Parts: sequence; structure tokens; C-alpha cells
Amino acid sequence: MTGLFITLEGPEGAGKSTNRDYLAERLRERGVEVLLSREPGGTPLAERIRELLLTPSDEPMAVDTELLLVFAARAQHLQQVIRPALARGCVVLCDRFTDATYAYQGGGRGLPIERIAQLEQFVQGELRPDLTLIFDLPIEVGLARAAARGRLDRFEQEGRGFFDAVRHAYLQRAAQAPQRYHVLNAAQTLEQVQADLDALLPRLLEACRG
Ligand code: TMP
Repeated sequence: MTGLFITLEGPEGAGKSTNRDYLAERLRERGVEVLLSREPGGTPLAERIRELLLTPSDEPMAVDTELLLVFAARAQHLQQVIRPALARGCVVLCDRFTDATYAYQGGGRGLPIERIAQLEQFVQGELRPDLTLIFDLPIEVGLARAAARGRLDRFEQEGRGFFDAVRHAYLQRAAQAPQRYHVLNAAQTLEQVQADLDALLPRLLEACRG
């Protein structure tokens, strides 16, 4: 028995976690066992690494340090949470995963894709998400929503060029493998986005039945 690994991606303020919870409810009411998680994080140790990544600090973080911390947290999360849940046959709904590394460290920071791909192979082996939902929206809309939430974290403090590159990297990855990605328009109202998720449900339930 193997479960289904679904990741939710997108820029800041795209409503990923709200929609992740909505999707979880819809699946659970149809009898599917769902595990919710997020990256960076998902275990106590990985959540401590998340703090290091998100907290602004006087010492600038080297880009390679950032990349390695992201994958260190992921290695822990995979071993402690994701792989065991998939082995139990759960649907794992994870708020961000390695597509975020391609988008933020690759697109945003400009790190070579090959370096990320090497670490992906090292940490994950053959494991990749079965489906990735990308909540896409214009940069200004997302940043305004993030700013309205309060103090900005280390990534949210980046400039517009960074987020343009992040968005572009996500959309480029989706275009290269359309069978694995589903792009949603997150600039719509929450009700509209959730109607789009409802339309996806039959496909997800089909995949759960395997
Ligand atoms: P969020 O989960 O609240 O959106 O915040 C997580 C932040 O971490 C977000 O700005 C994206 C960033 N991030 C990376 O830079 N690389 C990664 O691989 C992941 C998972 C997240």
C-alpha cells in the first residue's frame, strides 16, 4: 500500500494553508486518511530549522547555507513524517516542498538548478510528489496579503525582482511537466478557488483508489 503525496505551492499570500485545510476536509469527509504538514518544518527539529531560515538576522545567511538548511529540514521531515505516512497509505498534503527550493533558491537566489537536483536526488531518492497544486497570483497581490499578516519574515523582506523570479520558476516547472502540476488562479475569491478545488476532487479520489 502506498499513499498519495500532494504538495501545495505558490508565492507568499497565495492562501496555500487555508486551501490545504479545505482540501483535507473534503477528502476526510469521503473517508480518506489525510496527513497535513508543511515545509520547511513538519517535525520539532525541522521546525527549529524553519526558525533559522525565516528569522531575519544581522549576519547575512550564505545562499549555500540556506539551500543546505532547507534540505536538512526536508531529510528530517521525510524520515520522521512523510515516508511513514505514505507507507501507511495516507494522503499527505504538504504546504510547500522541493518545488519551493527550485523557485526560491533556484529562481529567487539564482542557484544552479543542477545543484538543487543533486541534493533532491541525495535526500529524496526517487520520491517526488504525485501532484503539485500551484496557487498562482500577481506578486503585488501576494505581497500585500503577506504584509497585512504582520511582521515580514526573512523571505518576505525580499524585493519585487526576487518574487518575479520565484513566480516565473514555478510557472516554468508547471509548463515543463503539465501531468504533475495543476495551476490555480489564487487571485480569485476564496470561494472561487475552492470551487476549482472541488472540481479537482474526482481526480484526487480516483488517484487515492489507485
Ligand atoms: P511559508 O510556508 O509561510 O510560505 O514560508 C516559508 C518560506 O520559506 C517561504 O518564503 C518560502 C521559503 N522556502 C524556501 O525558500 N525554500 C524551500 O524549499 C521551502 C520549502 C520554503
